[in-house]
Amino acid sequence: MRTILAVVLLCGAVGSAALAGAAAAAEPSPELIAYGKALVEAGGCAGCHTADPAKPFAGGKRIDTPFGAIYAPNLTPDRDTGIGGWSDADFKRALRTGTAPDGSLYYPAFPYPYFTKMTKDDTLAIRAWLGTLAPVVNRNRPPELRWPLGHRGLMRAWNYLFFKPGLYEPDQTKGAAWNRGGYLVNGPGHCGACHTPKNYFGADKNAVALSGSEIGGWFAPRLDGATRTGLKSWSVEDIAEYLQSGRNAKSHAGGPMAEVIVNSTAKMRDADVRAIAVYLNSLPSVRRETNVTPPDDDEMKAGQAVYARFCIACHEADGSGAPRIYPPLPANALLQSNNPSSTLRIILDGAHTVTTPRAPNTGEMPAYAKQLSDEQIAAVTNYIRNSWGNAAPLVTPAQVAKARGQGQ
Ligand code: HEC
Ligand code: HEC
Ligand code: HEC
Repeated sequence: MRTILAVVLLCGAVGSAALAGAAAAAEPSPELIAYGKALVEAGGCAGCHTADPAKPFAGGKRIDTPFGAIYAPNLTPDRDTGIGGWSDADFKRALRTGTAPDGSLYYPAFPYPYFTKMTKDDTLAIRAWLGTLAPVVNRNRPPELRWPLGHRGLMRAWNYLFFKPGLYEPDQTKGAAWNRGGYLVNGPGHCGACHTPKNYFGADKNAVALSGSEIGGWFAPRLDGATRTGLKSWSVEDIAEYLQSGRNAKSHAGGPMAEVIVNSTAKMRDADVRAIAVYLNSLPSVRRETNVTPPDDDEMKAGQAVYARFCIACHEADGSGAPRIYPPLPANALLQSNNPSSTLRIILDGAHTVTTPRAPNTGEMPAYAKQLSDEQIAAVTNYIRNSWGNAAPLVTPAQVAKARGQGQ
C-alpha cells in the first residue's frame, strides 16, 4: 500500500515537474505581457467583462442591446468557468472570427467585427496578459434575447451578410501614426461600435462610418470631419486631450464615453492616443449636414427665460462657460447634433465630470428632471442649440418625455 502511494506521489511529482518545465519554456516575456495589457486597455475589455469591480474580467456584466440582453463571459484563466482551458488558437479564433471553441457563433455585442482587424501577435499578447489574472470561478449566463435571436445559428446569416473578416489594411499613402490610429479606431478600440450608424439588423453602415449613432439613451456624436456636428473644428491636441482627460476646451465626456475614457483611452500610451487623434483629425465629412429651421421667437424667449434662471450661473449668458470646468455651449458639436439624446440626458440627469489622472478635479452639472417640465426642458434645449451661432433641429416636449428615465 505504502509503495503504491509512493509511486503515485512520485509520478504526480514528476508529472507536474514536467508540466512546470513546459510552462516555463512557453512563459510569455514581460514585454509581451505589458503590450497585451496596453491592448486590453485600448480594447476596453474591462468595461464589458467586469460586473463586480472586486473581480475584474470575471464576466457577468449585462449588456443591453436592441435585441435583448447578453452577459459578457468570464475571461479569467479559471479552467471550468473562464478561458483557462482554451488554446491560443481558440482565443484567436474567438476574437478574429466570432466563433467559440465548440464552433457556435457569438453575437456582435462582442465587438469581433472590429477585433477581426487585429494581428495574430496582438491577440496572443492579449491572451498572455489575461493569463496573468487570478482565476475566478464565475459561471457564464446565457443571453436573454428576443425570439428567434436566441438561436446562435442565425448568426451564420448575419455574418454572411454583414461581417467582413480580415486584418486592418494599412494605407500606404499615409504615415505610421495615421495607420496606427486607423488600426486602433477600427480594430481594438472599436469606436464605431457606438459612433457608426446601424442598420435594421444592428450592423454598421460602413459607408457612413463614424457619423454618429444612438446608444443606450445617449448619442455618440459624429467623429468625422463634419463642420457643425463633427470634429472639423477640433485640433489633434483637442482630440488627444479629450481622450486622455475626459474634457478639453470644447466639450466634456459623459455617459458611455466617460466609461470609455476611464477604462481605455486615459490609460493608453501617449503615442497611441496621439495616433487616434491624427487619424480622426484627417477624416472627411462622410455625409452632408442637414439644413435647420430655427425655432420661432416665442420658443426662443421661453428657452432664454429658463436659461437665465437655471443655467447662467455656470454657463454664462453668452454660453462661454469656463473651459475645462463648465463646457462652452457655442460651436459645441455634440450639442448641435441632429439627435439630442446626449444633451437631454445631461440636462435631465445631471453629470459628474469624469476624473482621470491628468484631470482629477471634478465638476457637477445639476439634474433638472424633477425641477423642469418637458416644455421647459425642450425650450431651454432649443435655445442653447440655436443661440450664439449654433443651429440644430427642434426638440419637442414629447421627445423630452420619452428621454426621461432612459439613461442606464
Ligand atoms: C462592448 C462590450 C465588449 C467589449 C468591449 C469586449 N467584449 Fe468580449 N464579449 C462581450 C460579450 C457580450 C461576449 C459574449 C458574446 C456572446 O455570448 O455571443 C464576449 C465574449 C468574449 C469572448 C468569448 C469568451 C467565451 O467564454 O466564450 C472572449 C475571448 C472575449 N469576449 C474577449 C474580449 C477581449 C480580449 C476584449 C478586449 C480586447 C473584449 N472581449 C471586449 C462583450 C465585450
Ligand atoms: C460605448 C460607446 C462608445 C464607444 C465604444 C466610444 N464612444 Fe466616443 N462617445 C460616446 C458617447 C455617448 C459620446 C457623447 C458623450 C457625452 O455625452 O458627453 C461620445 C463622445 C466622443 C467624443 C466627443 C465628440 C464631441 O463632439 O463632443 C470623441 C472625440 C469620442 N467620443 C471619441 C471616441 C473614440 C476615439 C473612441 C474609440 C477609442 C470612442 N469614442 C468610443 C460613446 C462611445
Ligand atoms: C452648477 C453649475 C451648472 C449649472 C447651473 C448648469 N450646468 Fe450644465 N454643466 C455643468 C458642468 C460642470 C458640466 C460638465 C459635466 C461633465 O463634465 O460631464 C455641464 C455640462 C453641460 C452640457 C454638456 C456640454 C458638453 O459639451 O459636455 C450641457 C448641454 C449643459 N451643461 C447645459 C446646461 C443647461 C441647459 C443648464 C440649465 C438648465 C445647465 N447646464 C446648468 C455645470 C452646470
